Amino acid sequence: MDTVKLESIARALVKKGKGILAADESSGTIKKRFDAISVSSTEENRFFYRHLLLTTNGIEDFISGVILFDETIRQSDKTGLSLPEIINKKGILPGIKVDKGAKDMPGFPEEKYTEGLDDLRPRLVEYRKLGAQFAKWRSVITIGENIPSIQCIKTNAHGLALYAAQCQDIGLVPIVEPEVLMDGNHSIKQCEEATAETLKSVFYELKNHKVHLEGILLKPNMILPGKTCPEQATTQDVAMATLRCFQRNVPGSVPGIVFLSGGQTPQQATQNLNTMNVLSNAPWQLSFSYGRALQESTLKTWSGNNSNAEKAQQEFYHRAKCTGAARNGQYNENMEIK
Ligand code: 13P
Repeated sequence: MDTVKLESIARALVKKGKGILAADESSGTIKKRFDAISVSSTEENRFFYRHLLLTTNGIEDFISGVILFDETIRQSDKTGLSLPEIINKKGILPGIKVDKGAKDMPGFPEEKYTEGLDDLRPRLVEYRKLGAQFAKWRSVITIGENIPSIQCIKTNAHGLALYAAQCQDIGLVPIVEPEVLMDGNHSIKQCEEATAETLKSVFYELKNHKVHLEGILLKPNMILPGKTCPEQATTQDVAMATLRCFQRNVPGSVPGIVFLSGGQTPQQATQNLNTMNVLSNAPWQLSFSYGRALQESTLKTWSGNNSNAEKAQQEFYHRAKCTGAARNGQYNENMEIK
């Protein structure tokens, strides 16, 4: 294992002022996003939209890496440049989603485990040849009546660790993503408890699988009340609970925590990340790996009409700039005024 290389990729992804764009929506998820703006999910539309994102001028000032999907990592523009080559030219690192999605866990109603381990190794080797420098695997934990179960947490933690070990073995930095979902009416305290249990189990398994912690990034949820919880939280509450939970459960050898946005509005996700960076004296970098929070307004501005492409790129640049500032604790709401 080339630990020096892994560490340098991981650190480059969490450089000051920069974070990751998650543009790795699976075919099902991108269809949902396109349905919301009444655009049909054809390969041509998907390419146009993702090419639009990745060719936005200046995003390299705020974006260190992009997570791609299997279809996207293979696509090229008219001149024959592949999407990984296009972002590499800007100094942005290409990454790839390698899990095959969360599936119902037999015997555990409402709970999921993640598929994709069986043929993982040859896929990782191929993705590396296609230019990937890092990978992502997402596991999903749901809060509800009597869940998450210990078994669901263990199964998902084991999958994440085996994936991470294989990535490092062939030279890809694994992004380890255990996502405790925001869906439901649970309290912020329940989210903190479920996230703490999950992190404990994930780091136990990572250690058992001899994963080199300096060469991974953790991609978790923030500590938030459920979407339909009657008692919502202030950004101060979210930041304090999140910092406390991660300080208790994430080893200082991990170079960075890159949060997912998980259904927060773009402004909430930006504000919460900013507050954490203002308050934190934690050992790890606190950054972002947002999908929806970076893309929502860009998608809307584009709306499938290619003559809106320039405006959509301006919107994407704006969101990336605000989020990059939050990653340094330098964001304020006035930045939203365009
Ligand atoms: P969201 O920021 O939309 O939660 O997506 C991040 C991601 O990559 C989920 O796997």
